[in-house]
Amino acid sequence: MSEYVLFKQLIDPDVCELGHYIKLGGYEGLKKALQMEPVAVVEEVKKSNLRGRGGAGFPTGLKWSFMPKDDRQKYFVCNADEGEPGTFKDRYIMSENPHQLIEGMVIGGFAMGATVGYVYIRGEFKFVADELQKAVDEAYEAGFLGKDILGSGFDFDLYLHLGAGAYICGEETGLIQSLEGHTGKPRLKPPFPAQVGVFGKPTTVNNVETIACVPDIIRKGANWFLTIGPERNNGTKIYGVSGHVNNPGVFELPMGTSLREIIFEHAGGILDGKKVKAIIPGGSSAPVLGPEHLDVAMDFDSLKEAGSMLGSGAIIVMHEDTCIVEAFARLAEFYAHESCGQCTPCREGTPWMAKIIRNIEDGKGQEGDIELLYDICSKIIGRTVCPLGDAAVFCIKGALDRFRDEFEYHIQHKKCMVENKVAIYG
Ligand SMILES: Cc1cc2nc3c(=O)[nH]c(=O)nc-3n(C[C@H](O)[C@H](O)[C@H](O)COP(=O)(O)O)c2cc1C
Ligand code: SF4
Repeated sequence: MSEYVLFKQLIDPDVCELGHYIKLGGYEGLKKALQMEPVAVVEEVKKSNLRGRGGAGFPTGLKWSFMPKDDRQKYFVCNADEGEPGTFKDRYIMSENPHQLIEGMVIGGFAMGATVGYVYIRGEFKFVADELQKAVDEAYEAGFLGKDILGSGFDFDLYLHLGAGAYICGEETGLIQSLEGHTGKPRLKPPFPAQVGVFGKPTTVNNVETIACVPDIIRKGANWFLTIGPERNNGTKIYGVSGHVNNPGVFELPMGTSLREIIFEHAGGILDGKKVKAIIPGGSSAPVLGPEHLDVAMDFDSLKEAGSMLGSGAIIVMHEDTCIVEAFARLAEFYAHESCGQCTPCREGTPWMAKIIRNIEDGKGQEGDIELLYDICSKIIGRTVCPLGDAAVFCIKGALDRFRDEFEYHIQHKKCMVENKVAIYG
Protein backbone atom coordinates (compact mmCIF):
# COMPACT_ATOMS: atom_id res chain seq x y z
CA MET A 1 0.00 0.00 0.00
CA SER A 2 1.71 3.18 -1.14
CA GLU A 3 -0.65 5.65 0.51
CA TYR A 4 -2.37 5.25 3.86
CA VAL A 5 -5.51 7.35 4.19
CA LEU A 6 -6.42 6.18 7.69
CA PHE A 7 -3.57 4.18 9.23
CA LYS A 8 -1.10 7.07 9.31
CA GLN A 9 0.48 5.43 12.37
CA LEU A 10 2.19 3.21 9.79
CA ILE A 11 3.88 6.33 8.39
CA ASP A 12 4.60 7.95 11.78
CA PRO A 13 4.02 5.83 14.92
CA ASP A 14 3.53 9.02 16.98
CA VAL A 15 0.79 10.48 14.78
CA CYS A 16 -1.57 10.25 17.78
CA GLU A 17 0.22 13.37 19.05
CA LEU A 18 -1.04 16.63 17.59
CA GLY A 19 2.37 17.93 16.42
CA HIS A 20 3.06 14.73 14.50
CA TYR A 21 -0.43 14.71 12.96
CA ILE A 22 0.03 18.30 11.80
CA LYS A 23 3.37 17.40 10.17
CA LEU A 24 1.51 14.87 8.01
CA GLY A 25 -0.96 17.52 6.80
CA GLY A 26 -3.31 17.22 9.76
CA TYR A 27 -6.01 19.90 10.19
CA GLU A 28 -5.22 21.30 6.70
CA GLY A 29 -8.53 19.79 5.53
CA LEU A 30 -10.33 21.65 8.31
CA LYS A 31 -8.62 24.94 7.44
CA LYS A 32 -9.64 24.48 3.81
CA ALA A 33 -13.22 23.50 4.71
CA LEU A 34 -13.66 26.58 6.89
CA GLN A 35 -12.84 28.75 3.84
CA MET A 36 -15.58 27.00 1.83
CA GLU A 37 -19.35 27.29 1.89
CA PRO A 38 -20.79 24.43 4.01
CA VAL A 39 -22.81 23.20 1.03
CA ALA A 40 -19.60 23.03 -1.06
CA VAL A 41 -18.06 20.75 1.57
CA VAL A 42 -21.07 18.45 1.33
CA GLU A 43 -20.78 18.50 -2.48
CA GLU A 44 -17.08 17.57 -2.32
CA VAL A 45 -17.87 14.58 -0.07
CA LYS A 46 -20.68 13.59 -2.47
CA LYS A 47 -18.32 13.81 -5.43
CA SER A 48 -15.76 11.57 -3.69
CA ASN A 49 -18.22 8.63 -3.70
CA LEU A 50 -17.44 8.01 -0.03
CA ARG A 51 -19.84 5.34 1.23
CA GLY A 52 -20.56 4.53 4.86
CA ARG A 53 -18.15 2.05 6.43
CA GLY A 54 -20.57 1.13 9.24
CA GLY A 55 -22.29 -1.61 7.26
CA ALA A 56 -24.78 -0.45 4.69
CA GLY A 57 -22.50 1.54 2.35
CA PHE A 58 -24.89 4.48 2.17
CA PRO A 59 -23.38 7.49 0.29
CA THR A 60 -22.03 9.85 2.96
CA GLY A 61 -22.40 13.16 1.07
CA LEU A 62 -26.01 12.32 0.26
CA LYS A 63 -26.69 11.52 3.93
CA TRP A 64 -25.16 14.85 4.96
CA SER A 65 -27.34 16.68 2.42
CA PHE A 66 -30.49 15.39 4.20
CA MET A 67 -29.79 17.60 7.20
CA PRO A 68 -32.24 20.52 7.29
CA LYS A 69 -30.84 23.99 6.67
CA ASP A 70 -32.91 25.70 9.40
CA ASP A 71 -31.80 27.25 12.69
CA ARG A 72 -32.48 24.26 14.94
CA GLN A 73 -29.70 22.77 17.07
CA LYS A 74 -28.10 19.92 15.08
CA TYR A 75 -25.89 17.04 16.15
CA PHE A 76 -23.20 15.00 14.44
CA VAL A 77 -22.72 11.58 16.04
CA CYS A 78 -19.84 9.20 15.50
CA ASN A 79 -20.77 5.54 15.85
CA ALA A 80 -17.85 3.88 17.62
CA ASP A 81 -19.85 1.01 19.09
CA GLU A 82 -18.02 -1.58 16.98
CA GLY A 83 -20.13 -4.50 18.18
CA GLU A 84 -20.45 -6.63 15.03
CA PRO A 85 -18.73 -9.99 15.62
CA GLY A 86 -15.40 -10.09 13.81
CA THR A 87 -15.09 -6.30 13.65
CA PHE A 88 -12.06 -4.63 15.24
CA LYS A 89 -11.03 -1.73 13.02
CA ASP A 90 -12.44 1.51 14.46
CA ARG A 91 -10.57 1.11 17.73
CA TYR A 92 -7.26 1.45 15.85
CA ILE A 93 -8.26 4.74 14.28
CA MET A 94 -9.36 6.10 17.67
CA SER A 95 -6.28 5.02 19.59
CA GLU A 96 -3.57 5.36 16.91
CA ASN A 97 -4.74 8.26 14.71
CA PRO A 98 -7.39 10.02 16.83
CA HIS A 99 -6.93 13.53 15.43
CA GLN A 100 -8.06 12.38 12.01
CA LEU A 101 -11.41 11.36 13.50
CA ILE A 102 -11.66 14.63 15.44
CA GLU A 103 -10.84 16.65 12.31
CA GLY A 104 -13.48 14.71 10.34
CA MET A 105 -16.04 15.43 13.07
CA VAL A 106 -15.38 19.19 12.97
CA ILE A 107 -15.50 19.28 9.15
CA GLY A 108 -18.76 17.28 9.16
CA GLY A 109 -20.23 19.53 11.85
CA PHE A 110 -19.35 22.62 9.82
CA ALA A 111 -20.77 21.12 6.61
CA MET A 112 -24.08 20.18 8.25
CA GLY A 113 -24.44 23.12 10.63
CA ALA A 114 -24.03 20.93 13.72
CA THR A 115 -22.30 22.61 16.61
CA VAL A 116 -22.20 19.60 18.93
CA GLY A 117 -20.71 16.18 18.26
CA TYR A 118 -20.74 12.94 20.21
CA VAL A 119 -18.52 9.91 19.83
CA TYR A 120 -20.53 6.94 21.12
CA ILE A 121 -17.92 4.37 22.18
CA ARG A 122 -18.67 0.86 23.34
CA GLY A 123 -18.18 0.46 27.07
CA GLU A 124 -15.42 -2.14 26.79
CA PHE A 125 -13.27 0.43 24.95
CA LYS A 126 -12.50 2.51 28.04
CA PHE A 127 -8.78 2.39 27.21
CA VAL A 128 -9.50 3.61 23.67
CA ALA A 129 -11.76 6.37 24.97
CA ASP A 130 -8.95 7.53 27.27
CA GLU A 131 -6.58 7.85 24.29
CA LEU A 132 -9.20 9.70 22.27
CA GLN A 133 -9.97 12.05 25.18
CA LYS A 134 -6.29 13.01 25.35
CA ALA A 135 -6.44 14.00 21.68
CA VAL A 136 -9.72 15.90 22.20
CA ASP A 137 -8.08 17.88 25.01
CA GLU A 138 -5.11 18.68 22.74
CA ALA A 139 -7.46 19.78 19.95
CA TYR A 140 -9.34 22.14 22.33
CA GLU A 141 -6.04 23.58 23.51
CA ALA A 142 -4.91 24.24 19.94
CA GLY A 143 -8.21 25.86 18.90
CA PHE A 144 -9.41 23.04 16.61
CA LEU A 145 -12.41 22.47 18.90
CA GLY A 146 -14.50 24.88 20.94
CA LYS A 147 -15.56 28.44 20.19
CA ASP A 148 -14.66 30.35 17.00
CA ILE A 149 -12.53 27.57 15.53
CA LEU A 150 -9.44 29.06 13.84
CA GLY A 151 -11.14 32.47 13.84
CA SER A 152 -13.89 31.23 11.51
CA GLY A 153 -16.80 32.07 13.79
CA PHE A 154 -17.78 28.36 13.80
CA ASP A 155 -18.21 26.65 17.19
CA PHE A 156 -18.02 22.90 17.69
CA ASP A 157 -17.92 20.93 20.96
CA LEU A 158 -17.09 17.25 21.02
CA TYR A 159 -18.11 14.84 23.80
CA LEU A 160 -17.22 11.18 24.28
CA HIS A 161 -19.96 8.89 25.57
CA LEU A 162 -19.31 5.35 26.74
CA GLY A 163 -22.02 2.75 26.07
CA ALA A 164 -22.56 -0.34 28.18
CA GLY A 165 -21.63 -3.07 25.72
CA ALA A 166 -24.91 -3.81 23.94
CA TYR A 167 -24.66 -4.68 20.23
CA ILE A 168 -28.02 -3.07 19.58
CA CYS A 169 -26.62 0.31 20.62
CA GLY A 170 -24.60 0.22 17.39
CA GLU A 171 -27.86 0.48 15.42
CA GLU A 172 -28.20 4.21 14.92
CA THR A 173 -31.60 4.73 16.54
CA GLY A 174 -30.72 2.40 19.44
CA LEU A 175 -27.55 4.47 19.82
CA ILE A 176 -29.56 7.71 19.88
CA GLN A 177 -31.89 6.30 22.54
CA SER A 178 -28.91 5.22 24.64
CA LEU A 179 -27.17 8.58 24.20
CA GLU A 180 -30.29 10.26 25.53
CA GLY A 181 -30.17 8.05 28.63
CA HIS A 182 -32.89 5.57 27.66
CA THR A 183 -32.61 1.82 27.19
CA GLY A 184 -31.09 1.17 23.76
CA LYS A 185 -34.29 0.06 22.03
CA PRO A 186 -34.33 1.12 18.36
CA ARG A 187 -36.96 3.53 17.04
CA LEU A 188 -39.10 3.07 13.98
CA LYS A 189 -37.95 4.96 10.87
CA PRO A 190 -39.33 7.32 9.57
CA PRO A 191 -38.81 9.79 11.05
CA PHE A 192 -35.12 9.45 10.17
CA PRO A 193 -32.46 10.93 12.46
CA ALA A 194 -31.87 13.81 10.01
CA GLN A 195 -35.37 15.00 11.00
CA VAL A 196 -35.75 13.68 14.55
CA GLY A 197 -32.52 12.50 16.14
CA VAL A 198 -30.69 13.17 19.40
CA PHE A 199 -32.98 15.06 21.83
CA GLY A 200 -35.51 15.33 18.99
CA LYS A 201 -33.13 17.44 16.86
CA PRO A 202 -31.68 16.83 13.38
CA THR A 203 -28.80 14.35 13.66
CA THR A 204 -26.41 12.51 11.38
CA VAL A 205 -24.78 9.28 12.51
CA ASN A 206 -21.66 8.02 10.75
CA ASN A 207 -19.14 5.31 11.43
CA VAL A 208 -15.61 6.13 12.71
CA GLU A 209 -13.90 4.94 9.52
CA THR A 210 -16.29 6.95 7.32
CA ILE A 211 -15.64 10.17 9.24
CA ALA A 212 -11.88 9.62 9.32
CA CYS A 213 -11.82 9.55 5.48
CA VAL A 214 -13.17 13.11 5.27
CA PRO A 215 -10.09 15.27 6.18
CA ASP A 216 -8.01 13.85 3.32
CA ILE A 217 -10.93 14.11 0.88
CA ILE A 218 -11.20 17.82 1.62
CA ARG A 219 -7.44 18.44 1.78
CA LYS A 220 -6.54 16.54 -1.41
CA GLY A 221 -9.87 16.86 -3.22
CA ALA A 222 -12.55 14.36 -4.21
CA ASN A 223 -10.77 13.63 -7.51
CA TRP A 224 -7.80 12.22 -5.60
CA PHE A 225 -10.12 9.90 -3.59
CA LEU A 226 -11.70 8.71 -6.84
CA THR A 227 -8.30 7.40 -8.01
CA ILE A 228 -8.37 4.77 -5.23
CA GLY A 229 -10.58 1.69 -5.58
CA PRO A 230 -13.20 0.74 -8.18
CA GLU A 231 -15.89 3.06 -9.50
CA ARG A 232 -18.70 3.75 -7.00
CA ASN A 233 -16.59 2.03 -4.31
CA ASN A 234 -13.78 4.51 -3.89
CA GLY A 235 -11.20 4.90 -1.19
CA THR A 236 -9.31 2.51 1.01
CA LYS A 237 -10.90 0.01 3.38
CA ILE A 238 -9.71 -1.36 6.67
CA TYR A 239 -10.19 -5.11 6.45
CA GLY A 240 -10.04 -7.01 9.74
CA VAL A 241 -9.14 -10.67 9.35
CA SER A 242 -9.73 -13.24 12.09
CA GLY A 243 -10.23 -16.99 12.37
CA HIS A 244 -8.00 -19.68 10.89
CA VAL A 245 -5.26 -17.51 9.41
CA ASN A 246 -1.57 -17.26 10.29
CA ASN A 247 -1.47 -13.50 10.65
CA PRO A 248 -4.80 -12.15 11.88
CA GLY A 249 -5.10 -8.38 12.04
CA VAL A 250 -6.27 -5.19 10.38
CA PHE A 251 -5.03 -4.12 6.96
CA GLU A 252 -5.75 -0.85 5.14
CA LEU A 253 -5.91 -1.63 1.43
CA PRO A 254 -7.58 -0.15 -1.64
CA MET A 255 -11.27 -0.96 -1.73
CA GLY A 256 -11.83 -3.88 -4.10
CA THR A 257 -8.75 -5.90 -3.07
CA SER A 258 -9.56 -9.58 -3.60
CA LEU A 259 -10.31 -11.90 -0.70
CA ARG A 260 -7.45 -14.08 -1.93
CA GLU A 261 -4.91 -11.25 -1.65
CA ILE A 262 -6.19 -10.18 1.77
CA ILE A 263 -6.18 -13.71 3.20
CA PHE A 264 -3.05 -15.13 1.59
CA GLU A 265 -0.75 -12.11 1.19
CA HIS A 266 -1.69 -9.94 4.16
CA ALA A 267 -3.17 -12.37 6.68
CA GLY A 268 -0.46 -14.97 6.03
CA GLY A 269 -2.61 -17.76 4.55
CA ILE A 270 -4.51 -20.54 6.25
CA LEU A 271 -3.34 -22.19 9.50
CA ASP A 272 -1.41 -25.44 8.98
CA GLY A 273 -1.76 -25.09 5.20
CA LYS A 274 -5.39 -26.28 5.41
CA LYS A 275 -8.07 -25.60 2.81
CA VAL A 276 -10.56 -22.71 3.11
CA LYS A 277 -14.04 -23.92 3.90
CA ALA A 278 -16.06 -20.81 4.68
CA ILE A 279 -15.49 -17.06 4.69
CA ILE A 280 -17.75 -14.49 6.32
CA PRO A 281 -16.73 -11.37 4.39
CA GLY A 282 -18.28 -8.46 6.29
CA GLY A 283 -19.00 -9.24 9.94
CA SER A 284 -21.35 -11.94 11.16
CA SER A 285 -24.43 -10.43 9.48
CA ALA A 286 -22.94 -10.94 5.99
CA PRO A 287 -24.01 -14.25 4.39
CA VAL A 288 -21.17 -16.76 4.40
CA LEU A 289 -19.20 -17.45 1.20
CA GLY A 290 -17.13 -20.45 0.10
CA PRO A 291 -13.63 -20.98 -1.40
CA GLU A 292 -15.02 -20.40 -4.91
CA HIS A 293 -15.38 -16.75 -3.90
CA LEU A 294 -11.69 -16.15 -3.12
CA ASP A 295 -11.32 -13.96 -6.21
CA VAL A 296 -14.26 -11.72 -5.35
CA ALA A 297 -13.29 -8.05 -4.99
CA MET A 298 -13.96 -6.82 -1.46
CA ASP A 299 -16.19 -3.85 -2.25
CA PHE A 300 -19.87 -3.02 -1.78
CA ASP A 301 -21.06 -3.85 -5.30
CA SER A 302 -18.96 -6.97 -5.97
CA LEU A 303 -19.99 -8.61 -2.70
CA LYS A 304 -23.63 -7.83 -3.32
CA GLU A 305 -23.31 -9.52 -6.70
CA ALA A 306 -21.70 -12.53 -4.98
CA GLY A 307 -24.74 -12.84 -2.69
CA SER A 308 -23.23 -11.32 0.44
CA MET A 309 -22.20 -7.87 1.64
CA LEU A 310 -19.15 -5.83 2.58
CA GLY A 311 -20.71 -4.82 5.93
CA SER A 312 -17.92 -3.71 8.23
CA GLY A 313 -15.22 -5.42 6.13
CA ALA A 314 -14.57 -7.96 8.91
CA ILE A 315 -13.41 -11.22 7.36
CA ILE A 316 -13.83 -14.41 9.41
CA VAL A 317 -12.01 -17.35 7.86
CA MET A 318 -12.87 -20.97 8.67
CA HIS A 319 -10.77 -23.83 7.41
CA GLU A 320 -11.71 -27.42 6.54
CA ASP A 321 -11.71 -28.67 10.16
CA THR A 322 -14.47 -26.28 11.22
CA CYS A 323 -17.87 -27.59 12.26
CA ILE A 324 -20.20 -25.17 10.52
CA VAL A 325 -23.12 -26.14 12.77
CA GLU A 326 -21.10 -25.32 15.87
CA ALA A 327 -19.82 -22.04 14.38
CA PHE A 328 -23.32 -20.85 13.50
CA ALA A 329 -24.86 -22.08 16.75
CA ARG A 330 -22.51 -19.61 18.46
CA LEU A 331 -23.58 -16.80 16.15
CA ALA A 332 -27.28 -17.64 16.52
CA GLU A 333 -26.81 -17.47 20.30
CA PHE A 334 -25.17 -14.07 19.90
CA TYR A 335 -28.17 -12.64 18.03
CA ALA A 336 -30.60 -14.17 20.53
CA HIS A 337 -28.64 -12.64 23.40
CA GLU A 338 -28.44 -9.20 21.76
CA SER A 339 -32.08 -8.92 20.63
CA CYS A 340 -33.57 -6.00 22.54
CA GLY A 341 -36.87 -7.87 22.81
CA GLN A 342 -38.98 -5.05 21.47
CA CYS A 343 -40.57 -6.92 18.55
CA THR A 344 -42.01 -10.41 18.68
CA PRO A 345 -40.46 -12.01 15.56
CA CYS A 346 -36.92 -11.12 16.69
CA ARG A 347 -37.46 -11.66 20.42
CA GLU A 348 -39.04 -15.10 19.93
CA GLY A 349 -37.42 -16.14 16.65
CA THR A 350 -33.74 -15.58 17.42
CA PRO A 351 -33.62 -17.77 20.59
CA TRP A 352 -35.74 -20.39 18.88
CA MET A 353 -33.24 -20.59 16.00
CA ALA A 354 -30.34 -20.72 18.44
CA LYS A 355 -31.96 -23.56 20.38
CA ILE A 356 -32.66 -25.62 17.26
CA ILE A 357 -29.13 -25.21 15.90
CA ARG A 358 -27.56 -26.01 19.28
CA ASN A 359 -29.74 -29.14 19.51
CA ILE A 360 -28.61 -30.20 16.03
CA GLU A 361 -25.00 -29.65 17.11
CA ASP A 362 -25.57 -31.69 20.28
CA GLY A 363 -26.87 -34.64 18.24
CA LYS A 364 -30.49 -34.01 19.21
CA GLY A 365 -31.66 -32.69 15.85
CA GLN A 366 -34.86 -33.97 14.27
CA GLU A 367 -36.16 -34.41 10.73
CA GLY A 368 -37.84 -31.17 9.74
CA ASP A 369 -35.52 -28.92 11.77
CA ILE A 370 -33.99 -27.36 8.68
CA GLU A 371 -37.40 -26.55 7.20
CA LEU A 372 -38.43 -25.13 10.58
CA LEU A 373 -35.35 -22.89 10.62
CA TYR A 374 -36.17 -21.60 7.15
CA ASP A 375 -39.74 -20.99 8.26
CA ILE A 376 -38.62 -18.98 11.30
CA CYS A 377 -36.31 -16.95 9.05
CA SER A 378 -39.23 -16.13 6.76
CA LYS A 379 -41.27 -14.96 9.77
CA ILE A 380 -38.52 -12.60 10.98
CA ILE A 381 -37.25 -11.00 7.79
CA GLY A 382 -38.75 -7.59 7.04
CA ARG A 383 -41.06 -7.77 10.06
CA THR A 384 -39.03 -6.00 12.71
CA VAL A 385 -38.38 -2.47 13.95
CA CYS A 386 -34.66 -2.55 13.24
CA PRO A 387 -32.35 -4.60 11.00
CA LEU A 388 -31.01 -6.85 13.80
CA GLY A 389 -33.68 -9.42 12.99
CA ASP A 390 -32.75 -9.34 9.29
CA ALA A 391 -29.06 -9.59 10.20
CA ALA A 392 -29.71 -12.77 12.20
CA VAL A 393 -31.58 -14.22 9.22
CA PHE A 394 -28.81 -13.33 6.73
CA CYS A 395 -26.33 -15.07 8.99
CA ILE A 396 -28.31 -18.27 9.64
CA LYS A 397 -30.01 -18.62 6.24
CA GLY A 398 -26.64 -18.05 4.56
CA ALA A 399 -25.19 -21.02 6.47
CA LEU A 400 -28.22 -23.24 5.75
CA ASP A 401 -28.14 -22.40 2.03
CA ARG A 402 -24.43 -23.09 1.63
CA PHE A 403 -23.85 -25.90 4.13
CA ARG A 404 -27.20 -27.67 4.23
CA ASP A 405 -25.45 -31.04 3.82
CA GLU A 406 -23.58 -30.50 7.11
CA PHE A 407 -26.76 -29.70 9.00
CA GLU A 408 -28.42 -32.78 7.44
CA TYR A 409 -25.47 -35.02 8.35
CA HIS A 410 -25.65 -33.84 11.97
CA ILE A 411 -29.38 -34.60 12.13
CA GLN A 412 -29.09 -38.04 10.50
CA HIS A 413 -25.87 -39.27 12.16
CA LYS A 414 -26.17 -37.38 15.47
CA LYS A 415 -22.58 -36.22 15.09
CA CYS A 416 -20.35 -33.97 13.06
CA MET A 417 -19.01 -34.94 9.63
CA VAL A 418 -15.67 -33.26 10.46
CA GLU A 419 -13.24 -35.77 12.03
CA ASN A 420 -10.91 -33.56 14.10
CA LYS A 421 -12.92 -30.42 14.39
CA VAL A 422 -11.35 -27.24 15.76
CA ALA A 423 -12.96 -24.26 17.42
CA ILE A 424 -13.40 -21.05 15.47
CA TYR A 425 -14.12 -18.55 18.22
CA GLY A 426 -11.64 -19.88 20.78
C1 LIG B 1 -27.66 -4.38 15.02
C2 LIG B 1 -26.85 -3.33 14.36
C3 LIG B 1 -25.61 -2.99 14.87
C4 LIG B 1 -24.85 -2.00 14.27
N1 LIG B 1 -23.62 -1.72 14.81
C5 LIG B 1 -22.88 -0.72 14.24
C6 LIG B 1 -21.62 -0.38 14.79
O1 LIG B 1 -21.16 -0.96 15.78
N2 LIG B 1 -20.92 0.62 14.20
C7 LIG B 1 -21.41 1.31 13.09
O2 LIG B 1 -20.76 2.23 12.61
N3 LIG B 1 -22.59 0.99 12.55
C8 LIG B 1 -23.35 0.01 13.09
N4 LIG B 1 -24.57 -0.29 12.57
C9 LIG B 1 -25.05 0.54 11.43
C10 LIG B 1 -25.66 1.86 11.95
O3 LIG B 1 -27.04 1.66 12.21
C11 LIG B 1 -25.54 3.00 10.93
O4 LIG B 1 -26.07 2.57 9.71
C12 LIG B 1 -24.11 3.45 10.71
O5 LIG B 1 -23.51 3.86 11.91
C13 LIG B 1 -24.08 4.60 9.71
O6 LIG B 1 -22.78 5.01 9.46
P1 LIG B 1 -22.18 5.06 7.99
O7 LIG B 1 -23.19 5.73 7.12
O8 LIG B 1 -20.93 5.85 8.14
O9 LIG B 1 -21.94 3.63 7.57
C14 LIG B 1 -25.34 -1.31 13.12
C15 LIG B 1 -26.59 -1.66 12.60
C16 LIG B 1 -27.32 -2.67 13.20
C17 LIG B 1 -28.64 -3.03 12.61
S1 SF4 C 1 -35.41 -6.38 15.49
FE1 SF4 C 1 -34.77 -7.24 17.44
S2 SF4 C 1 -33.21 -5.84 18.17
FE2 SF4 C 1 -34.32 -4.73 16.55
S3 SF4 C 1 -35.96 -3.62 17.63
FE3 SF4 C 1 -36.82 -5.60 17.09
S4 SF4 C 1 -36.44 -6.92 18.90
FE4 SF4 C 1 -35.11 -5.13 19.07
